[in-house]
Amino acid sequence: MRAVDIIIKKRDKEVLSKAEIDFLIENYTRGTIPDYQMSAWAMAVLLNGMTDQEITDLTMAMARSGDMLDLSQAVDIAVDKHSTGGVGDKTTLTVAPLVAACGLPVGKMSGRGLGFSGGTIDKLEAIPGFQVDLSTQQFINQLKEHGIVLTGQSADLAPADGKLYALRDVTGTVQSIPLIASSVMSKKIAAGAHAIVLDVKVGQGAFMRTLEEARQLAEVMVSIGRLSGRRVIAVLSPMDQPLGNAVGNALELKEAVEMLHGVGPEDYRYHCLHLAAYMLILGGLAKDIPEGIGMAERAINDGSGFAKFRELVLAQGGDVRVIDDLKRLPKAAFVESVYAENGGWASVVDAKEVGETSVALGAGREQKGDLIDQAVGIIVKVKVGDAVDKGQVLFEVHANDPRKLQQAKERLKNAVKIVNRPVEKPPYFHGVIGI
Ligand code: URA
Repeated sequence: MRAVDIIIKKRDKEVLSKAEIDFLIENYTRGTIPDYQMSAWAMAVLLNGMTDQEITDLTMAMARSGDMLDLSQAVDIAVDKHSTGGVGDKTTLTVAPLVAACGLPVGKMSGRGLGFSGGTIDKLEAIPGFQVDLSTQQFINQLKEHGIVLTGQSADLAPADGKLYALRDVTGTVQSIPLIASSVMSKKIAAGAHAIVLDVKVGQGAFMRTLEEARQLAEVMVSIGRLSGRRVIAVLSPMDQPLGNAVGNALELKEAVEMLHGVGPEDYRYHCLHLAAYMLILGGLAKDIPEGIGMAERAINDGSGFAKFRELVLAQGGDVRVIDDLKRLPKAAFVESVYAENGGWASVVDAKEVGETSVALGAGREQKGDLIDQAVGIIVKVKVGDAVDKGQVLFEVHANDPRKLQQAKERLKNAVKIVNRPVEKPPYFHGVIGI
């Protein structure tokens, strides 16, 4: 078998066999298929799609490219959550400790930033010393001992996805249902959680632009998860404007920790409480949403959620002083505001534009392996539906480079649309699949 023939087959819209998919993934993982061939193949998949059978075969080939954990040896039931990627989506950082504090172990493998969307691992690295590359054994030990573990894509778990994810990030091949579904589900299956809550983002700042595409992605992932014996649901959540206020690694970490203390934007709080509730329901600890929300709220109010986050940071070697005193987090040299040029109501706060501007400031990567700047990013000060006064601050830009700062300020002027009639606030959720 030759990689080039498999690329040509997909280019010509043919269906790949399990043997061909296995060959491609095994050899890419081993390094005998180079990045340029894998990029060409990924682009062919993006353009021509895959059947459900191909997506399942691809998911299982990537899951099997490394160790497959069985978390039953560590805990009775472990839950996981995964977002398909958005702007300002720091939910894991708040929700994982809240759920773990309620007594439900959370073992999660997270990603780095992808395209204009941020990644949990990059955000966690704003904490000096925080280890994101745990081995399989460390993952299991920590889950057993602390009931919470957040690791990056290790060399041991779904390494094929680790490589492909980084390649897709810089080759314009993120936005594909087969590639996203297999990427997410291979990690989830390899990491061995028994129950998984998927957060499928939809809108201008998400990889799925329409509700129909998002629903399709959610259905494929729920069905792959169930075929592999997991309890899975998918929440469809809007991503036309950033979630919460902060965009950028240290800024988002700060907002996530503040929410563990009960302080922060309403949309982010709603999102966290609901995702926590769904995780608690799937894990069998809550019977319904109100009960789950009540449990998560208690974990905020009694400080046990923050204590769990602290325990996580200590367990993974992070400097806990920066979360005890958030002023110690990395800070940008320049902080300047973008002001409203006229008054009215905000009808658009463009998440994609904000996400791309944040990447351009240095919060994300433009090329594989680029170093990111933890301190830079954007604080969004306006939400769709808000009344806006002329001269009001719309964004606060945190930058380390004066040229990038000016470019970001120019760009962000176009990220908000202000109209002269009231605008309805968008919903926080579009629905749930699989419950
Ligand atoms: N999250 C993932 O893990 N993979 C993707 O492809 C997109 C979002």
